Amino acid sequence: MTEYYCLDQRRRLAFPGNAEKTLTFAADHWIETALESIQDHDFFAVALSGGSTPKKIYQKIASQELSKKIDWKKVYLFWSDERTVPPDDPESNYHMALVEGKLNTLPIPKDHIFPLIAPSEDLISESQRYDRLIREKLAGHPFDLVMLGMGDDGHTASLFPHTEALNAKGKLVTPNHVPQKNTWRLTFTYDCINAARQICFYVLGSTKAEMLDQVLKGPQNPREFPSQEVGTPSNPALWIIDDEAGKNLLHHLKSSE
Ligand code: 6PG
Repeated sequence: MTEYYCLDQRRRLAFPGNAEKTLTFAADHWIETALESIQDHDFFAVALSGGSTPKKIYQKIASQELSKKIDWKKVYLFWSDERTVPPDDPESNYHMALVEGKLNTLPIPKDHIFPLIAPSEDLISESQRYDRLIREKLAGHPFDLVMLGMGDDGHTASLFPHTEALNAKGKLVTPNHVPQKNTWRLTFTYDCINAARQICFYVLGSTKAEMLDQVLKGPQNPREFPSQEVGTPSNPALWIIDDEAGKNLLHHLKSSE
């Protein structure tokens, strides 16, 4: 049985169990969010994330059992960040979701799929194009779901510790120089992520345990741990955590009950 905790006004936690149960929970939750959104306003706008965990969630969503529940003509795919590589590069988040994650097997109309084109000469123009595109396609709606991972260093999307994008205001998308990786990325800003109706983190595996504890139970220091800034009282983030990643945290939560 999934255990739920309300960490604070901005963050809720769900612990479905081992990795397989957690991925199943995440995929079912995605499908439910899509169904509710389509019922409410006739479309589902989701921002996909890169990372190893989302890939497994996409594969589950694309499975016959789950995919038949959705009218894919009503789904719009965006990306919450992208690497500066061509779209057919295995490092590309677009490629990962569509090809490795198998979302390209679903009958989503081509003009509902909106990649960030990051190996662009001009990342500023590309971020502005994507910003305008989101505003135009969503026509005043927030995203129905923004999917996020948490990196081992506490980053999320391409909001890395101590980088410029952490200060971005008044825009939805921005280029970000990431000295830690000696590269540039395009990323959603906090303003964009925190406006979403549903914000979900997917955190699995023991390598995340220490950072997860730091991000969720440590002192608030979002410049060092950017994932801490995600979630607001009106739009709380849901952290979906497996028992390996959550082992320290669960211990804390249970001992403070
Ligand atoms: C990316 C991501 C990034 C990712 C985290 C977690 O482009 O790499 O969008 O923010 O989600 O690094 O990735 P894992 O699930 O692989 O740990």
